[in-house]
Amino acid sequence: MEFFLDTANINSIKKGIEYYPISGVTTNPTIISREKTNFIELLKNIKSILGNNKSLHVQALGTNAKNIIEEAFYINELLGDNVYIKIPVIPEGIKAMKSLSEKNIKITATAVFTPQQGLIAAKSGATYVAPYVNRIDNISGNGINVINEMYKLFEAEKTQAKILAASFKNVEQIHKASLAGAHSATIPLELMEYLIFHPLTDVSVENFIKDWEDLYGKDKTLL
Ligand code: E4P
Repeated sequence: MEFFLDTANINSIKKGIEYYPISGVTTNPTIISREKTNFIELLKNIKSILGNNKSLHVQALGTNAKNIIEEAFYINELLGDNVYIKIPVIPEGIKAMKSLSEKNIKITATAVFTPQQGLIAAKSGATYVAPYVNRIDNISGNGINVINEMYKLFEAEKTQAKILAASFKNVEQIHKASLAGAHSATIPLELMEYLIFHPLTDVSVENFIKDWEDLYGKDKTLL
C-alpha cells in the first residue's frame, strides 16, 4: 500500500518524508486554508520539497467543468511533473475528468462516498479515487465496506484506477482499509506516527539497551 501525507504543513511534510515511506502529499482547500498563507507560494514550496519522484495532489475549486479544466491546466503548468488535480465527483467534475484525462492531465477523484461514484470516476479517467472513510463512518455508514465494494467493482471492471482511501481518524480504520483492498491511504503525520507506535516496542528497546549497557557500558553501540 502507498502512503500519502494529508497535509499542507511544511514541517509535517519535511518530517514525514524524512522518517516514513511517503509516496506524495494530498491537499484540499480546507487543508491549505489552515496554513493561512499565500497558497501559490505554499504549493510551490511543497512541490520543491517533494521533487518529481513524489506526487502532489491539488484540488480544483471550480464548480463547472470549464473552470475546473482551466484550473487544472494552470496548476499543471505552474507545478510541473507528478501533479494530480483533485476533482470532486459532481457531474461537472466528471465532465472535466473525461476531458482532462484525454489530454493526459493526471486526476484524483475526491469527495467520494459510494462505490458507484468511485467506478464512474475511474471510468472517466481518474488515476486515484479517494473515498472518505471517517466521514462515511460519522453518519452511521461503513467506510470500510465502501472501500471493499469499490475494490471488487474495480477488479470486476478491470479498471486501472487505484483506491486512495482518505479521511482517517485512527489506525484501526487504516488497517481495515488496507485489508479491504485500498491501494493507498492518505493520512496526517500524527496517524503515520501512531501506525508504528506500540508501547511494547518502546519497552523492548529500553530493556535491550539496559541489558547491553549493564555489560558493555553506557552509550556503547556496535561501533
Ligand atoms: C483527502 O482527499 C481528503 O481531502 C481528506 O482526507 C479529508 O479528510 P477529513 O475528513 O479529515 O477532512
